Amino acid sequence: MEIKKVGVVGCGLMGTGIAQVCAQSGYQVVVSEINDELLKKGMTSISSRLAKNVDKGKLSAEDRDSTLSRIKGTTNTKDFSDCDLVIEAIIEKMDLKQKIFAELDKVCPQKTILATNTSVLSIIEIAKATGRMDRVLGLHFFNPVSVMALVEAIKTIATGEDTLKIAIEFVKSLGKAVIVAKDTPGFVVNRQLAPFIFNAIRMLEAGVATREDIDAGVKLGLNHPIGPLQLADFIGLDTVYFGAIDMYDEFKEPQYSPPILLRKMVAAGWLGRKTGKGFYDYDKPA
Ligand SMILES: NC(=O)c1ccc[n+]([C@@H]2O[C@H](COP(=O)([O-])OP(=O)(O)OC[C@H]3O[C@@H](n4cnc5c(N)ncnc54)[C@H](O)[C@@H]3O)[C@@H](O)[C@H]2O)c1
Repeated sequence: MEIKKVGVVGCGLMGTGIAQVCAQSGYQVVVSEINDELLKKGMTSISSRLAKNVDKGKLSAEDRDSTLSRIKGTTNTKDFSDCDLVIEAIIEKMDLKQKIFAELDKVCPQKTILATNTSVLSIIEIAKATGRMDRVLGLHFFNPVSVMALVEAIKTIATGEDTLKIAIEFVKSLGKAVIVAKDTPGFVVNRQLAPFIFNAIRMLEAGVATREDIDAGVKLGLNHPIGPLQLADFIGLDTVYFGAIDMYDEFKEPQYSPPILLRKMVAAGWLGRKTGKGFYDYDKPA
């Protein structure tokens, strides 16, 4: 099956990025939000990102215009009815994702592949809301979508080989590398990242080094582009915390148990860049 039209559910941080890279790769895209105001906000963020690329000389004005002409915004799930692939990127809540998948199952033809961008949730739990578990898988993009080279393709025990194959070819057509993972919490990347970030936080709690030196140690000693505490601020401390709780629930391994300091920071509303305060202070919320 050839993918021609892609649906994206949710026009937030990840949905805007996914819609943008799909349209830039020549796909027709329809992206949805819960209301006109949020849809407008998401569409504006796509056009301003493209405009910045034009200013930097990375994109021609013609390519920006043709990319934008391929993206249609909607607040009606029925507009996904002629999509070959729909990628869900709404907030990380199981009941909401199940509701969307049940709606998509009613609206989309049987051949349509339904993918979720979940970071840690069980994909088979989401798939069971549909009558086509063989056509459901995870496609986990990374933030910022237009910059990050990787997508994880997650195969549940029910995902069809054909579905996986089509999804892998689709990811490659976006110019991204793909790795295949089983449907276990955190898949390949976040399962390694959570204990890594937690170790850094526990070292900070224990007074082993300052936040700057913990980050500099990883940056300069391990050649990472940013340190683990900076990365946690970038992802959002709530996202790190709640994702870890899901992993801990499943694995019951102490390495996935969130550090006390992280829990307290989340309780205080210090969520990193997005709130202007996390392990570091920022001039204004991102
Ligand atoms: N933020 C990250 O770094 C990151 C990275 C990889 C994966 N993810 C995953 O991607 C998903 C989205 O995360 P995000 O950071 O973009 O969240 P976000 O809050 O920025 O965006 C989610 C959007 O979905 C919209 N939405 C909610 N219900 C909807 C519905 N029924 N129909 C249409 N839109 C709806 C919300 O209004 C919101 O704008 C989550 O599952 C998250 O775990 C996030």
